[in-house]
Amino acid sequence: MDKLLIQGGTPLSGEAAISGAKNAALPILCASLLSAEPMHFINVPHLNDVSTMLRLIGQMGVEVTMEGNDGLVLNSHGLNNPTASYDMVKTMRASILVLGPLLARCGEAKVSLPGGCAIGARPVDQHIKGLQAMGAEIRVENGYILASASRLKGARIVTDMVTVTGTENLMMAAVLADGETIIENAAREPEVVDLAHCLMAMGAHISGAGTDSICIEGVERLHGATHSIMPDRIETGTYLCAAAITGGRIRLTNTSAAYLDSVVQKLRESGCEVSTEGDSIALNAPPRLKSVSIRTEPYPAFPTDMQAQFMAINCVADGSAVIRETIFENRFMHAVELIRLGADIRIEASNALVTGVPHLDGATVMATDLRASASLVIAGLVAQGETLIERIYHLDRGYERIEEKLSKLGARVRRVR
Ligand code: EPZ
Repeated sequence: MDKLLIQGGTPLSGEAAISGAKNAALPILCASLLSAEPMHFINVPHLNDVSTMLRLIGQMGVEVTMEGNDGLVLNSHGLNNPTASYDMVKTMRASILVLGPLLARCGEAKVSLPGGCAIGARPVDQHIKGLQAMGAEIRVENGYILASASRLKGARIVTDMVTVTGTENLMMAAVLADGETIIENAAREPEVVDLAHCLMAMGAHISGAGTDSICIEGVERLHGATHSIMPDRIETGTYLCAAAITGGRIRLTNTSAAYLDSVVQKLRESGCEVSTEGDSIALNAPPRLKSVSIRTEPYPAFPTDMQAQFMAINCVADGSAVIRETIFENRFMHAVELIRLGADIRIEASNALVTGVPHLDGATVMATDLRASASLVIAGLVAQGETLIERIYHLDRGYERIEEKLSKLGARVRRVR
């Protein structure tokens, strides 16, 4: 298994380009199941999760063709196998996003229940409840969701909690339903809006995306379209944290600050100068950061996917900070690994008290999930000496060529087999 070897202590400097957003690409690739005409995608990130999704829809009968460096053409004219097997779904929970489109396009779907994952149980009951409200017959047998519906009917759905992929699944199911669907308590994440833009380019009638109430007027069919994936706001935030912790000065391009207000605000609170201009963001860090407390909440509040990264920067900041994780029940696994690097962190239920220490010391640590891995990379960049991060396949799921981009910014990091 690959490992990442980091020699800490170098302030990051220079420029790096941000890739397309993983959490926009995954639902948007599933949207191609909704039309029999070709879909052209650009700015698609080269990530393991994207490759997994392409394999998944490819085995359903969708034709996948590369186009240029970051382009794809997906043609689901020959869609003939509305099934997502356990061995595919167990490697990527986002596979659940095929359920809504398959039901809408084929009238049936057999999708493995995603297992739990490191950060929590992550049930999909809201996805199932919403589809049932739209008239789907759904049974769960032997670990599979067996769903069928001659034609889904518009319904008014109120989800019990804000769910990003739940909102996306229901929106994709509703675009071909008979009548109007309203999703209340909808997720407002920018990736939900990007999916809505793609669906509207295909001929869907959607209003309210980006608010907590989305209205979808079903249509008979959707046509092909071209869509460019929005920039990855979490990748952007991750590199900003890497520059902040190392006292660096970087500029990120092909991105947008529009969706990072809560993160930029916290970086400024920690003492960083952050400026934005068009599609780039620049950060200039102080020699030492100030601790910043954070509380994760649905968008537009502070994103849970940036929590681990901010725990890392708080480890070497002045003062103490409380990190409160309200979205997932087990998303502090990076804490014990950071403690191996010398951090002072105390966990009490969903709160972590982080007290800044003068410095961290390199050690061998283990990645447990995608954003926890990013947190260990950030800490390794500032730890004295060498940090070896094991199980970095987690990183490769969501960060394109991370060691290349960091090296370009001056970091001393290399991948070791
Ligand atoms: C999406 O996951 C993202 N993944 C996650 O990013 C992100 O952390 C999460 O949203 C929150 O922003 C993708 O978009 C592919 P949820 P999702 O449904 O949709 C509970 C990353 O690192 N819930 O919004 O699975 C759930 O357990 C990943 O890129 C139910 O109880 O998250 C959680 O506590 C990690 N029943 C809360 O809601 C349901 O049916 C929010 O989950 C659905 C969710």
